This record gives sequence, structure tokens and C-alpha cells, in this order.
Amino acid sequence: MAKNFDVVVIGGGPGGYIAAIRAAQLGFSTTCIDEWKNEKGGPAPGGTCTNVGCIPSKALLQSSEHFEHAGHAFADHGIEVKGLGLNLGRMLGRKDTVVKQNNDGILFLFKKNKVAFFHGRGSFVKAEGGGYEIAVAGGTPETITAKHVIIATGSNPRALPNAAFDEKLILSNTGALAIGEVPKKLGVIGAGVIGLEMGSVWRRLGAEVTVLEALPAFLGAVDDQIAKEANKLFAKQGLAIHLGVKIGAVTAGNNDVTVEYADDKGAAQKAVFDRLIISIGRIPNTTGLNGEAVGLKLDERGFVAVDDACRTNLPNVWAVGDVVRGPMLAHKAEEEGVAVAERIAGQHGHVNFNTIPWVIYTSPEIAWVGKTEQQLKAEGVAFKAGTFPFMANGRARALGDTSGMVKVLADARSDEILGVHIIGPMASELISEAVVAMEFRASSEDIARICHAHPSLSEATKEAALAVDKRSLNF
Ligand code: FAD
Ligand code: NAI
Repeated sequence: MAKNFDVVVIGGGPGGYIAAIRAAQLGFSTTCIDEWKNEKGGPAPGGTCTNVGCIPSKALLQSSEHFEHAGHAFADHGIEVKGLGLNLGRMLGRKDTVVKQNNDGILFLFKKNKVAFFHGRGSFVKAEGGGYEIAVAGGTPETITAKHVIIATGSNPRALPNAAFDEKLILSNTGALAIGEVPKKLGVIGAGVIGLEMGSVWRRLGAEVTVLEALPAFLGAVDDQIAKEANKLFAKQGLAIHLGVKIGAVTAGNNDVTVEYADDKGAAQKAVFDRLIISIGRIPNTTGLNGEAVGLKLDERGFVAVDDACRTNLPNVWAVGDVVRGPMLAHKAEEEGVAVAERIAGQHGHVNFNTIPWVIYTSPEIAWVGKTEQQLKAEGVAFKAGTFPFMANGRARALGDTSGMVKVLADARSDEILGVHIIGPMASELISEAVVAMEFRASSEDIARICHAHPSLSEATKEAALAVDKRSLNF
């Protein structure tokens, strides 16, 4: 007998599990199907983000930063550490515990919100009676019918055509989060978000890290001034970043990987690494969904085709998160999940794509929202810019973390904030003020006139806003 629900969500990552919870809050009988397995074969909801993405990477970034501080920064504070050692097994074990806490947290939230959970792969069978029939395979096979379907099946790492992931020597994000011993030489192909975050983790733990990037510019999506600063700081830390390369053959040996490439001058190069991380972007995951059975339309790049409101070409079928257009970010997936549940309930769910923050959790962190200076120039928008260095911020000095700056871009005539770009300590937290300001269409003067606690890093944002009008007080 088929089990009937109002809403079925396929995929339990941040897009899917949040959509399911919101739908249940709104009074719909809701189920979420997710196939992710933990090492014992049990359910591990939370998707890429919880299992092999945001959460474990941030756990390792934190641990490796503590290690680096104990080895270097502590001495400056008068703390002498003798016999510093690395217990990598314990560090990785802690990361696994953090992941499990998050998996269990989601299962608890499903119970609390009365979301029925099915562990297995969900696939379309047919459209039926104004709704859809979905089969769940794996675990206990089930058949589900529901009027509304939300597809939240996420993304997978993109492989190089000539170098399949074996997760032993040639690693995707999954293998990069679980290397059993610190590689002496680590290669990274792709100087994007994963390459820089995972490269930072293993460099801090002692690896010699080389990053090979195809594009001639470093972090092209980031404001040029901030990207230049980042490139300088990462080089100083010892990340060897080579831009403008063309990757050739990648050959796995018994214990190493050889990468042949042409450098930015076209000269042939060869590098041998103990491990190679390939982080060249991600592709939408529709494997096993059997969308063909109901005529689900994909776009030319393989994403589920949706309109601005996340509607697919099929009535009452929606799609959110990494499997649809837009930035592949957990918070974007969540916002779309909430908005879709609210639209199903006849409400006006809304996602503002202009105020989605980005964060790269390197040290220093990089965070931004809105337009970059180069985008504004290309669009011919007249703007004013104000910057303030953390070097001149009292709290940053007390922390011993003074690299970087805050940069505010405002419309030359109306003074409306068009973009805020931060490289520096706790940029991931500081950016929220800018998001709130932009969501309320604040001017730089609004931030400049707001009382910020002293001493705090957020004073740098206020000072950058003052600098838009050339009236910084502390610089
Ligand atoms: P996913 O999280 O991929 O979840 C999809 C789920 O659906 C999975 O559990 C999958 O098993 C399941 N599934 C797929 N098909 C089926 C099916 N047919 N039946 C049942 N289940 C199915 N983003 C940030 O915002 N901040 C970060 O710090 C950050 N760090 C990251 C670090 C790394 C290393 C990586 C790889 C990604 C990171 N991301 C980060 C990106 C973030 O993980 C994704 O944007 C986010 O997970 C997308 O959520 P989603 O719900 O769309 O898909
Ligand atoms: P990315 O898109 O951030 O970076 C990929 C990089 O690889 C780009 O610089 C690209 O030019 C380069 N590249 C592509 N093909 C190449 C080739 N053949 N040779 C050399 N370089 C090549 O993708 P990444 O790092 O894989 O991450 C995927 C996505 O996951 C991110 O875009 C982001 O959406 C998400 N993510 C978010 C995080 C965060 O929010 N902090 C952390 C990690 C991932």
C-alpha cells in the first residue's frame, strides 16, 4: 500500500531537510527521503554539507588553525608550547563526531516536526491522480504518493576527464577530508573555495601545498583588491599558487600522482605529489531520480530547469539547492527550501539573490555580499569606495590578527550600499551586518551613524563606511 503525503522531499541536505521542516510547520503531512549512508550503513541526513562539506571542513579548519597557533602565534602572546604534537587520528575522529552530532540533530528535528523520514533512494515512478508516485529503494522498499514534490538532490564533485577519483591518491572533497597521514607534498587542482580551504588545512598541518589553477586571475569572483590581498597573504603563508596553467596527463603511481601541465608561459612542467585534490567545481546530481518517467526537464548543463520561484516544468514539482541554477551554497539551498514550502502553502516565499553572502573560510577569512568594484565598473555604475584596514582596529591588534580590510562600495548619488567585501578575522560573522544593511537598502551613512561596540572588529565596518565619505576617524 502506498503511503500518502501532501509533500515529499527527495534529498535531505540543507535544501531538502529545511524545506521538509518548513512544510511540516505549515501543516502539511511531509516526508523526506535521503540515501546518504554513514560508515555503518545507517542514515546520515544533512547531505554534502553535513557529511563531506561545510561541517567537516570547518571542523578541520578550526583544529588545524589551533595547531598552527600553538606552533606559531601563541609565542607572541607569551605562551610557550613545548613538545607540540599532532594526533591526526584524534583530529579526524573529532571531525567525524561533529558530523554525527549534526546527522543526529536532523533526525531529532524530523521527529520534533513530525516529518516522516525514509532512508533510501527516491525515484519518480509516474504522475498519478494530480500527484506523483515515488519509489524508495534501499532499506525497506516503499511506495509513496504525494501531491507536491520538492527535488533537493544536490551536487557531486566534477572529475577531470583523465583522472577519476579513487579517494586514495586522487581525492575529491570526500577524500580530502579524510587523509590518514599528512602528505609531504599535496597537489590541488583548482584554486576555488574547496582548493583554498582544504589546501589551508593540510598546509597548516605540515604539507607542502601546490595549487594549480587554469584561470589567469586569482579568485575571479572576488573583488579585485581583496583577491590581490588574499593572494599575497596566502603566498606568505606558503601556499604555492600557480595561475594560468593547463593540466595535461594525471598519472597515479603506487604511492604518488604525477601531474603534467603547461605553466602560464606555455612551458611543460611535471610535478609529483603524495596526494592530489581535484576541486574544479561541482555538477548537479540527478542520478537515480528517474525524472524521465514524468518528463522532468533539465537545462543544457544538467541542472533541473526551474523558474525564479523554483518551479520545474511539471505541475507541483519544485527543485531547490545545488541541483538548480545559482550559487552552490548551503544557505542559498535553505532559503529556497523555505520559500518553496511557503509557496506551496500559498504564501509569498522570497529569496533575494542580491544579498546572498559568500564566505571562504581561509585564514584570514574572505566574505562578501553584493557587487564587486569590477562588476560596478563593467556595469557603468558610479560608486564611491571606502576601505579600512584591520591594522588600525584595536580589537584586531589585541587579537594579534591584523591582516586584511573592510571595503564598502556605495552608489555615488544615493549612497545606497552596493557591496561589502571583507578579508580579515571573523569576516564570516562580520558580513552579516552588511547583509542586513543591504536587505534594508541602507546607505553607507546609515552604518557610519550606528553605534558599534568598542573594541570590536565590527568597528572596521563602521570605519569603512565613514571612509566612503572620506571621514574615517581612526585611520
Ligand atoms: P546536498 O547537500 O548535496 O544534499 C543532497 C542530498 O540528497 C544528499 O544527502 C544525497 O545523498 C541525497 N540524494 C540525492 N539523490 C537522491 C535520491 N534520488 N534519493 C534520495 N536521496 C538523494 N556551502 C556553504 O554555504 N558554506 C560552506 O562552508 C560550504 N563548505 C563546503 C565545503 C565543501 C568541501 C563542499 C564540497 C561544499 C561546501 N559547501 C558549502 C556547499 C554546500 O555543501 C552545498 O551548497 C549544499 O550542501 C547544497 O545543499 P543541497 O541540499 O542542495 O544538496
Ligand atoms: P570553485 O568553482 O569554487 O573553484 C573551482 C576552480 O577550479 C576555479 O577557480 C576554476 O577556474 C578552476 N578550474 C576549473 N577547471 C580547471 C582545470 N581543468 N584545471 C585547473 N583549474 C580548473 O569549485 P570548488 O572549489 O570545487 O567548490 C565547489 C563549490 O562548492 C563552490 O563553488 C561553492 O559553491 C561550494 N563551496 C562553498 C564553500 C563555502 O561557502 N565556504 C566551501 C567549499 C565549497
